[in-house]
Amino acid sequence: MVQNEQSLRIAIQKGGRLSEKTLNLLENVGLEFDSYKNRILVPCRNYDVELLLIRDDDIPEYVQDGICELGFVGHNVTAEAKADVTALRGLGFGKCRLSVAVPKNNGIHSLKDLDGCRIATSYPVLTREHFARQGLSIKTIEISGAVEIAPTLNVADAITDIVSTGGTLKTNGLIELETILESEAQLICTNKAIPAHKQELIDKILMRIGARQQAEKSRYIMMNAPADKVDALCQIIPSLKSPTVLPLAENNMVAIHSVIPTGRFWEVMEELKDAGATGIVILPIENMIV
Ligand code: PRP
Ligand code: ZN
Repeated sequence: MVQNEQSLRIAIQKGGRLSEKTLNLLENVGLEFDSYKNRILVPCRNYDVELLLIRDDDIPEYVQDGICELGFVGHNVTAEAKADVTALRGLGFGKCRLSVAVPKNNGIHSLKDLDGCRIATSYPVLTREHFARQGLSIKTIEISGAVEIAPTLNVADAITDIVSTGGTLKTNGLIELETILESEAQLICTNKAIPAHKQELIDKILMRIGARQQAEKSRYIMMNAPADKVDALCQIIPSLKSPTVLPLAENNMVAIHSVIPTGRFWEVMEELKDAGATGIVILPIENMIV
């Protein structure tokens, strides 16, 4: 596809935690890109779209200023930047939280104990806001990486940092005191005017992301059952109320096809088996438009 100045531009993180999942998502919604290696602007092969691969801290501002119409970035980054953008979708990955953490066994039990203390962080804006909201004054020590080592080096009394598994805090002898912000990857959109042809593409991408998300919430289920058990089976899950029921060659047997919520599929399978279903097969769904 010929690229021009009018391409829809999407900012994503160059390297880092969210990159792989973001690129997978874009490919899953049908956007094909050339090699990303050593490139900052990557054209899309089949749509009038280009990717801008930049540091995640820069994404909210690029989107705010309309340099990119869309951006995939953690809510934590956008919140810290106080960017004037619209979050279109939570993406369900990159889940983490910004937390206050302190060295364990040092007698700090609540935020109040940190009044007047030094807090090392890469999130000075959110950190100052959080302490100020509770009437506490602190000194922020801004560090861009390896914040967790600051208390050991006596650079700070406590930190605020992103916690995902909690492994980093544990390794560094720190414990969480409280959460400042819950976060996940989001699709953000500029609040600047968007030309109609770009908006159309954005709507299409959004619809496809929605179809993916819907599909992930559901599983396709198939089973065989005696015809006289269909009513009983349909009681088990609401979505089975309008299943597809197909007669089988075998006498009085039917095949039932339906969709069930992902989270419940083990229980549902067991209940269906107890109610007389056999040959139960559950399949993932690629995309789903409801
Ligand atoms: C974040 C954060 C912690 C770590 C927490 O850093 O700053 O270091 O992840 O994750 P965990 O709870 O699973 O251990 P990241 O790896 O994103 O890199 P950065 O510190 O260089 O920004
Ligand atoms: Zn880190």
